[in-house]
Amino acid sequence: MSLTPIGEPRRKISVASLRENKQHHQPITCLTAYDYASARLVDEAGIDIVLVGDSLAMTMLGYENTLSVTIDEMMHHTKAVRRAVKHALLIADMPYGSYHVSVDEAIRNAARYVKEGGAEAVKIEGGAKRADLIRQIIDAEIPVAGHIGLTPQSVNVMGGYKVQGKNLSAIEQLMRDAVALDRAGVSCMFLEGIPREVAAMITAEVETPTIGIGAGPECDGQVLVFHDILNLTFQTPAKFVRRYADAASVISQAVQNFRADVMSHQYPSDAESYHLPKETQAALETMIETINGVPLEKVGAEILAMQTRLQASLQTTALLAKTSLVYFLSP
Ligand code: KIV
Repeated sequence: MSLTPIGEPRRKISVASLRENKQHHQPITCLTAYDYASARLVDEAGIDIVLVGDSLAMTMLGYENTLSVTIDEMMHHTKAVRRAVKHALLIADMPYGSYHVSVDEAIRNAARYVKEGGAEAVKIEGGAKRADLIRQIIDAEIPVAGHIGLTPQSVNVMGGYKVQGKNLSAIEQLMRDAVALDRAGVSCMFLEGIPREVAAMITAEVETPTIGIGAGPECDGQVLVFHDILNLTFQTPAKFVRRYADAASVISQAVQNFRADVMSHQYPSDAESYHLPKETQAALETMIETINGVPLEKVGAEILAMQTRLQASLQTTALLAKTSLVYFLSP
């Protein structure tokens, strides 16, 4: 349900309005989108945040995990989404490797997202250990979204995609991470794959709006992956995924129907074909009738004469080619 009363123009969502949402206990909605068509649908449905997540590595590009996707690939998708999104806040993920080498490089890459990609904020995975970097990116006038808990770019360090924060020391670390991001001034923080109770504590503790994915209902907002809610991932969904439609079967059925129609000459129909203007059609029919009136031998003789003229012209071209300088110079 949209919070905008019917008939009122939709407001542009900004990082400031996310805080207002939290203050007024109005849930924040977020979905990923990676191309023009999906981003338009998401934006026009009234979703608050469109996230160009690095999950596009799997959903759009077929990589095994998010580690391989490059800045240029992310940028390509961010630009397409930018062209579609009019009201939602556009956040783009900084991919693995784009903020890990040095602060200068991270700021340069983040600025590319703003200048070239049109992103309004960038998302960076990691908590306390990224707080200083995040502060410096924000100092460069680039809003940053945090992301803690199950951070997919750390898959090799975590040893798989596992729910985080399940024991006391892990909970303590998550709280430290959340507070560090809050103090660093992130615009919002994504809480992924953590127990509901821990996400609730973080949400109550920090002023920053929290956006949960597999983090229970007490977060200030919820995010899901576009392909997950539509059954387009070719995988068994995670526990927290709710499938709102089966796009895979809709698309598959449409493709099979198209194939069957072509094979059985049902497509295209006359109504789906272009037609000649009436005068051209009439002129064409007259011409065909004239040709039909000519005896077959005369048509044959004309075609033969045309072939002979064509042959002669080809021979001349070949002869001319042999007189060219290149021909003499070539070994
Ligand atoms: O890349 C992504 O889609 C994400 C969301 C799952 C938060 O980071």
